[in-house]
Amino acid sequence: MKLIISILQVEQVTQSYVDWFSNKEIVRYSDNQYRTFSFDGQCSYVEGCLQNDDVNLYGIFDDNTHIGNITISGLTSHHRKAEIAYVIGEANYWGKGVASFAVANIIQKAKEEFNLNKLYACHASGNVRSGKVLKKNGFVIEGIRKKHAFINGVFVDQIDYGLLLEG
Ligand SMILES: CC(C)(COP(=O)(O)OP(=O)(O)OC[C@H]1O[C@@H](n2cnc3c(N)ncnc32)[C@H](O)[C@@H]1OP(=O)(O)O)[C@@H](O)C(=O)NCCC(=O)NCCS
Repeated sequence: MKLIISILQVEQVTQSYVDWFSNKEIVRYSDNQYRTFSFDGQCSYVEGCLQNDDVNLYGIFDDNTHIGNITISGLTSHHRKAEIAYVIGEANYWGKGVASFAVANIIQKAKEEFNLNKLYACHASGNVRSGKVLKKNGFVIEGIRKKHAFINGVFVDQIDYGLLLEG
């Protein structure tokens, strides 16, 4: 694998990207299970992120293949804190360290490029893979919001994580 992350451009939207969200495993732990996805819709989403100073949407690429996304939201916050979220849409890449690589890259950017004090993230209870990705990158659990999300027909806890970037 030759992984990089770079700001996702509208021209890089493909039908494969749209199709990630038809996979029930991909949307199993997220609000994406309530959304409908289309080629035009994803182009608008990417364009919206490009226009939004507060958010950076990065594509995760293996060579030229778009395999996932990672977002950082809160870049204009007075509190110098931002939230990250990620999806590895090409499920055959799961368990190969791709999300861990992307999160490590975002942490580096958060420190060096965005001068942030803190990153935070969350996952629905049960999303063990996501928890491992965060913990491997130094995030610690800051709290558990009880029955905070309605996912797959049941209320589940949300696990909140933080990573302090400054001493
Ligand atoms: C969660 C997700 C981003 C992880 O991506 P990934 O590239 O597979 O993550 P990594 O390979 O870097 O790490 C996954 C970890 O989970 C572990 N893992 C894989 N399958 C697992 C399973 N069934 N049960 C427990 N752990 C598992 C891996 O071994 C690895 O841990 P390790 O490095 O300690 O061995 C990916 O599964 C995904 O996109 N899921 C759908 C979207 C989503 O849930 N996004 C996060 C929302 S909070």
